[in-house]
Amino acid sequence: MSEMIPVLRPILVGMPGAGKSSVARQLGQRLGVPVVDSDAVIEQRIGRSIRSFFEHEGEAAFRDLEEQVIAELTRGGAMVLATGGGAVLRRANRERLRANGIVIYLRSTPEQIYRRLHKDTKRPLLQVVDPLARLREMFAVRDPLYRECAHFVLNARGLSLAMLVNKVVMQLDLMYPAGLGKSCAP
Ligand code: S3P
Repeated sequence: MSEMIPVLRPILVGMPGAGKSSVARQLGQRLGVPVVDSDAVIEQRIGRSIRSFFEHEGEAAFRDLEEQVIAELTRGGAMVLATGGGAVLRRANRERLRANGIVIYLRSTPEQIYRRLHKDTKRPLLQVVDPLARLREMFAVRDPLYRECAHFVLNARGLSLAMLVNKVVMQLDLMYPAGLGKSCAP
C-alpha cells in the first residue's frame, strides 16, 4: 500500500508583530522550502501598500482579497506560509488553513506586541490614538480564533527567534506521519 505523504506546509498565524514573518523565513531555510507571506502576495497583486488599500477600499475589500489569496496558496505546493494577523477572522480561512497545513499559533500578549509595534506606521488597524487598547480588543476577539485554527500554540514569551524555530521544527517532526525528512517533496 502506498503511503500518503502530506504536503509540507507549516502555516503561521498570530497577532500582527508576533514574529510570524521572521519565524517563517528561518523555518523555510531550515526545511528547504519556499517562504510565502500572504500580505506580500496581496501587495504585489494590488500594486500598493495594504495601508493605502485599507484607506481607499476599506477593510471588507481587503478581507475578500485575503480570502482569495489564502485559497490559492493553500492549493499550491510545499511552502512555509505566513498569514496576516486578521486572516483567522473569516471561518472559511480558518477551515482552509487547518485542512491544508500544520497551523502554528505564534502567541504574544498585547503588551509584548505593543512594545514592539508602538512606532509602527504600516499596519492600518494600529493607526489610532491608543494602540495598546486596540491590541487588547483585537487579542480578545482573535486569541480564541487562532486557537481554534491552530494545531499547536507556541508561546513566544522569552524565546529567541532561534529557539522558536527549533520548537517549531521539533513539533513538525512529530506531526508529519513520515517525519520531516520524508515529507519535503512538493
Ligand atoms: C492585519 C494584519 C496585517 C495585515 C493587515 C491586517 C490585521 O498583517 O494583514 O494590515 O488585521 O491584524 P501582519 O499580521 O503581518 O501585520
